[in-house]
Amino acid sequence: MWWKILLGLIAGLVIGFFVLLSRVDITLGIVFHSLFGSGGGTPTEETLQSRLQLPQGFTIGLYATDVTSARFIEFSNSGDLIVAQPQASKVSILMRDANGDGAADGQRVLLDNLTRPHSIDFHEDYLYIGESNAIGRVRFDHDKGEVMGDYERIITGLGDEGNHWSKSIRFGPDGLLYLSSGSTCNVCIETDQQRATMTRYNPDGTGEERVATGLRNSVGFDWAPFDGGLYATDNGRDLLGNDYPPCELNRIEMGGFYGWPHVNGFGDSDPDFPDDDRLQNAIPPAHGFRAHNAPLGIRFLTDPALPLDYQGSALVALHGSWNRSSYDGYKVVSLHWNGEGFDEKDFLSGFENKGDIIGRPVDIAEGNDGCVYISDDFSMSIFRVCYGIEQAVSSLSEDLPPGETGLEHLEAQALESLIEKGEQLYQTGGCIICHVAKVDKVPSGMKPLIGISARHNVASLESLFETPTPPMPPVLIENDEDRLALTAYLLSL
Ligand code: HEC
Repeated sequence: MWWKILLGLIAGLVIGFFVLLSRVDITLGIVFHSLFGSGGGTPTEETLQSRLQLPQGFTIGLYATDVTSARFIEFSNSGDLIVAQPQASKVSILMRDANGDGAADGQRVLLDNLTRPHSIDFHEDYLYIGESNAIGRVRFDHDKGEVMGDYERIITGLGDEGNHWSKSIRFGPDGLLYLSSGSTCNVCIETDQQRATMTRYNPDGTGEERVATGLRNSVGFDWAPFDGGLYATDNGRDLLGNDYPPCELNRIEMGGFYGWPHVNGFGDSDPDFPDDDRLQNAIPPAHGFRAHNAPLGIRFLTDPALPLDYQGSALVALHGSWNRSSYDGYKVVSLHWNGEGFDEKDFLSGFENKGDIIGRPVDIAEGNDGCVYISDDFSMSIFRVCYGIEQAVSSLSEDLPPGETGLEHLEAQALESLIEKGEQLYQTGGCIICHVAKVDKVPSGMKPLIGISARHNVASLESLFETPTPPMPPVLIENDEDRLALTAYLLSL
């Protein structure tokens, strides 16, 4: 649209001016993505598997695609994933994976025509939404995955001018509604007292109480299982060089001041707004991330099925830099509490490779299946990361008891001719490049298919054909009977 181009040009000029002033490099494609949410396409399953790296034992799959401007995500009680899409002015629901194929069973819009909705949370029977200028709520039926009645804005008039307009909301363990508002600018003295703070409210929006100040842009926050503390990510200021100041993780204390715009990182006076008094009062970060990595969503993991090292650790989405000479961030890291501070490790990395970007992680949610879900507003996808679970071959179809293939209804003769046809398809369809069917000894590098019926039935094979684990390519057989023939052959092995 013409106004986006115009705005882009103006933004480009303004940023160019700063670049000249500060001699800091920027990366324009990413600036445009940051401004307008326009991004890259969905990576193919193959790109995903070959590019992205995870710790040993974890696997990744594509849970949902075409989720425009996917920002904060939250699970309903029934396992539907709600996603806030600010640039699309809507909140959508990704239907729970009832057929067990590792992907959401479709998506639909829950609420439309909102003002840059960036965050959501559930409390009692309401779905709450953080718009850029208001907090609203609507009744939600968890079983049906539907909103009921009118959407009601309970907090209005929130400032959303300038930068960092997004509002992040979450309910605390105390049952109060926490709201984080970013600053209007890179560094400045705010005139709007609500900006660059964290505030909390009663669930009906009354009882406003300031929680913390001096937070430049704390987009994500969560409560730690090991000390109940409230931890918030914060993006450090720009235009002081490639590697300074650090982005932050702060442990939020009631009434705490966290430095911005006077103090950067661990107690450094800001060159533009030095202030001695404030310097002494500023609470230092609990952890420093690398400069310009842009930490957004944070989630402490609680699933007992995770490896011990990850239970109680936090995952943080590093959206990635736009204003340094080489790219940095573009990954999800894990933070491990060591009793005094956090050790940071790469969790999901590889979205950026020599300047080629395939994703920018935004938020993290833990599913009731023990898997972790990650939103990405660049590839417009939701990724599913699981420990010790095969992704594509996830499970046997639930409506077949184990031991049944799904072919029992066929007459022996019909089955036999199906199997024969399936064998031909197997021979001619490229399967033999990688598989061996009926041999005693398996050549190295080949995958045996003998005894497949112990693990598979018709339904699970059909879903495996669609989304196999790479390097196996999807099996592209359109004709239903041919597909059934191939499954019948495989199950006969
Ligand atoms: C490029 C190599 C390649 C080709 C071609 C290929 N596969 Fe595979 N296939 C694999 C690999 C590797 C796996 C194991 C994936 C894993 O580790 O989960 C696999 C897994 C399978 C499985 C599941 C095995 C199990 O033990 O659960 C089946 C069934 C299967 N393939 C069938 C086929 C059929 C049918 C074709 C032809 C239409 C085919 N494959 C073509 C590489 C290939």
